[in-house]
Order: sequence, then structure tokens, then C-alpha cells
Amino acid sequence: MRDVISILDFSKNYILDIFEHTDEFLEGKFRPRLDNKIIAMAFFEPSTRTALSFSSAALALGAKVLGFSSEESLSVSKGENLADTIRMLENYSDCIVMRHKFDGAAKFAAEIASKPVINAGDGKREHPTQTMIDIYTVYKTFGSIEGLTFGFFGDLRYARTVNSMLKALTLFNPKMVYLISPQPLRVRSEILEGLNYPYREVSDIREVIGEIDVLYVTRIQRERFLDEDEYEKVKESYKVDVKTVEGMRKDAIILHPLPRVSEIDRRIDSMPQAKYFLQASYATPLRSVLLHEVVEGD
Ligand code: CP
Repeated sequence: MRDVISILDFSKNYILDIFEHTDEFLEGKFRPRLDNKIIAMAFFEPSTRTALSFSSAALALGAKVLGFSSEESLSVSKGENLADTIRMLENYSDCIVMRHKFDGAAKFAAEIASKPVINAGDGKREHPTQTMIDIYTVYKTFGSIEGLTFGFFGDLRYARTVNSMLKALTLFNPKMVYLISPQPLRVRSEILEGLNYPYREVSDIREVIGEIDVLYVTRIQRERFLDEDEYEKVKESYKVDVKTVEGMRKDAIILHPLPRVSEIDRRIDSMPQAKYFLQASYATPLRSVLLHEVVEGD
């Protein structure tokens, strides 16, 4: 494994190995190193968690970091194409962590670069390392992923984290998956076609909230709408409030890849089901393990 483009680049056993190493990393029993390596953070789109946790991971491993956080500072703004930009990045680094607004951009980069490429989010397509963190949080909470009931809530059409997570669950045999969204934001058919587990599309969360073990919430992705009017119509329609959470099972959890805008009431943060900040805290340890595997693994 050199490039990380899709969560389905990994087998279930490989993912569980990464989780085991992440456990050991958190316990101080596994201290991987990437001394003298350089990691390029190529963020053509904004990021807080992904960019900073990968940088934090690289620095903690002893690597050096270079990169950028927008296209404006690059010669792309003078008309240079993506392929030439990738060729330069691989000259200067041992691994390219890349986020881009175009679907398939990471795969395109991996075809050009001989150095490993990690997809840190490509358009509305995938965000595989976020999914590893999401599944790891479920695994830490329940000890297993099999047999659980998941609810995905919000923008299921444009959220790449949801796409990657739905794909990942094909490896883990969930009991049921509820896809809860307004009609215009339903999961795209090409994603539904790949699912091998029971799922149902639902409009009203109240129908299913009591059955759910893992409620995965996403923001409405304004930047992915081609039509601002469509965004305005749906932006207020899907929110998790305190009453919704009171209808959940006591041992159920709420995940969110963040950033959150207004889709989760702030008062929920202190409720026992809220695990999204814990989820975010796993980013650096898990990405440390993964970065080491990608750069040094055999
Ligand atoms: N979860 C996530 O990808 O967050 P950022 O956009 O802040 O990186």
C-alpha cells in the first residue's frame, strides 16, 4: 500500500491492524519515526483538522513539513496545471497529502507521482483517512463495528465523509443503515449501488432515532451546491436538537467529522452521546500510524 485514495484501498484486516497500532500509539507502546522525511501538505481547499493533524502527526514522527493552504499562493493562479504542480511537489517531498475540490484529483495525482499520495478529501468523492478516524471511534466505543445500526443525517449527497463511510461499512456487516436526508440531498445512486448491507432512505429522523447506535451528522455543504437557491431551501431543514437526542438510546453515540455549523445544538456537546470532539482527538494518533505505514511500510 503506497497511495491512499479510497477507503476501499484497505482490507478489513488492514484497517484493524491500523487500529491496533493506534491503540499502542496512544498507550505509548508504539513510537514510529520518520526522521529526515519531508511531508508535503497540498491543500487546494480549506481545512482545519485534516491539515493540522497531518502536520502534527508528521512533526511528532520527526518528519519535516512543507505545503500550502490555498491555490492563491501557487503558480496555479498564473495558469500552471495540476499535473505540473504535482511533479514539483514530488521533487520536494517524500509523501503528498492532498485536498482538492475536484472529484478524482487525488487519483490523478497518484498516477503522476511516484511518491505516495494520501487523499485528504477530493471534491464530493472520498475522505478515507477521516473515515478511518470515524470507524476507530465506533470501534473504541463498542469494541466492534459488526451488527450495529447506523443513521447518516444531513447532506448525504455532497458529503465525501459520508460516501467513504458508507463504502467502509461494506467491510463490516452493519445490522441496518438509515439514510436520513431531505430529498435533494439523498445519497447518489452510484454509491447506493455499491452497498451490500440493508439500508433505508428516511425523511424524518423521529421514525428511527430510537434504533440507532451511531448517528453520523454532516453539515450542509454550501460550497458544493451549483445553485444558491437550492442551498437556501435545505440549509435549515436538518438539525439535531436536544429533544432528538433525548429520544436516542443511552449508549448510542453522535459523530460528526466537523466543521459543525448549526446542525447540532451546542447544548448537546455536554450530553453523553456527543462523541464528535473525542472523534476529532483521534486524528493525530491515527494519522501518525498511517503516515508511517505509507512512507515506511512494506
Ligand atoms: N473533518 C475534516 O475534514 O475537517 P477539515 O475540513 O477541517 O479538515
